[in-house]
Amino acid sequence: MGSRIVSSGSYLPARCLTNADLEKVVDTSDEWIVRRTGIRTRYHLAEGEEPAVMGIEAGKRALAQSDASPESVDLLIAATNFPDMICPGSAPFIAAGLGFDQTPFFDLKAGCSGFVYGLAVADGLISSGMYKRVLLIGHEALSRVTDWSDRKTCVLFGDGAGAVLLEPAPAGTGVLGSALYGDNSKAFLLHLPAGGTKSPASHSTVDERGHYLRMEGAGVFRSAVPMMERATRGALVAASLTLADVDWLIPHQANLRIIDSLIKRLKFDRERVVVNLDRVANTSTASIPIALDEALRQGRIVAGSVVVLTAFGAGATYGAVVIRT
Ligand SMILES: CC(C)(COP(=O)(O)OP(=O)(O)OC[C@H]1O[C@@H](n2cnc3c(N)ncnc32)[C@H](O)[C@@H]1OP(=O)(O)O)[C@@H](O)C(=O)NCCC(=O)NCCS
Repeated sequence: MGSRIVSSGSYLPARCLTNADLEKVVDTSDEWIVRRTGIRTRYHLAEGEEPAVMGIEAGKRALAQSDASPESVDLLIAATNFPDMICPGSAPFIAAGLGFDQTPFFDLKAGCSGFVYGLAVADGLISSGMYKRVLLIGHEALSRVTDWSDRKTCVLFGDGAGAVLLEPAPAGTGVLGSALYGDNSKAFLLHLPAGGTKSPASHSTVDERGHYLRMEGAGVFRSAVPMMERATRGALVAASLTLADVDWLIPHQANLRIIDSLIKRLKFDRERVVVNLDRVANTSTASIPIALDEALRQGRIVAGSVVVLTAFGAGATYGAVVIRT
């Protein structure tokens, strides 16, 4: 037995920020941002808006699409790097908003690869017979950890959530193969230094802006392309398929230049790559499920398509999953 995605949903906050809006905050330009990243707009939570709302709305849409009641879900996995609260995370708040009663839940933290990791975990749990219906949500409120005085990072990120509902399916029909990797030597390429138990919140961590995301952009860029290439090829081997069998590629939406380099290495047709980062920017764990949900709802990806989802992120983690929709 294996598993398959039976429905999906996504949610973006209402507040849209253009590059021109960011020109008023930091020394940047629309021209620089578009040329270096491909990003034109991003969506951010309004001040005081609850982050969990995004995961709740995405989850509701996924459940509604397959007429699944909250009671019928056996497990909720919330992939997120910046939970609503460090303890107890995001999952309990999303579970409450979805009307779950005794359903188990947990947060999964694996950098921007969190959704791909979560998909492999959910597939393993369903394949083992432990759970039947698993709701997997990628949920991220990056605007809340963005350093608005750092032009190198603040232009890159957006908020949002995406969800998929997984159910048992005959092996070889839904999730066809996966490959997960880690490179702990790159743990500091992308990190948030303070607020954890290593460096608890204090006046000095606030003064040092230690509660904001820090990134070594060029290092991330250099690692991202070979990581996603290796993961894509690894997952295809696990699925006993080749690139010629793939209808669509959905890479983590971080930077258009990273995606273009990946496609070049893979020699994959640009027309069959889902890209929405121009509109939504990098939403970390939410990036792939939002792109997948949009492509499914637009009818670009149809039933029976073979799709590779591949990501890299803080940790460094990377991985890919091959699915048949
Ligand atoms: C962040 C990133 C877009 C920067 O692009 P880059 O081509 O590497 O640019 P650099 O960092 O070398 O900076 C080049 C110049 O642009 C400047 N610059 C950086 N951000 C800028 C901005 N928003 N606006 C204008 N200029 C900017 C730099 O200060 C630098 O100026 P200098 O040469 O005078 O010092 C790119 O490295 C990247 O996308 N990395 C991966 C990030 C990522 O994917 N993160 C998420 C991982 S999940």
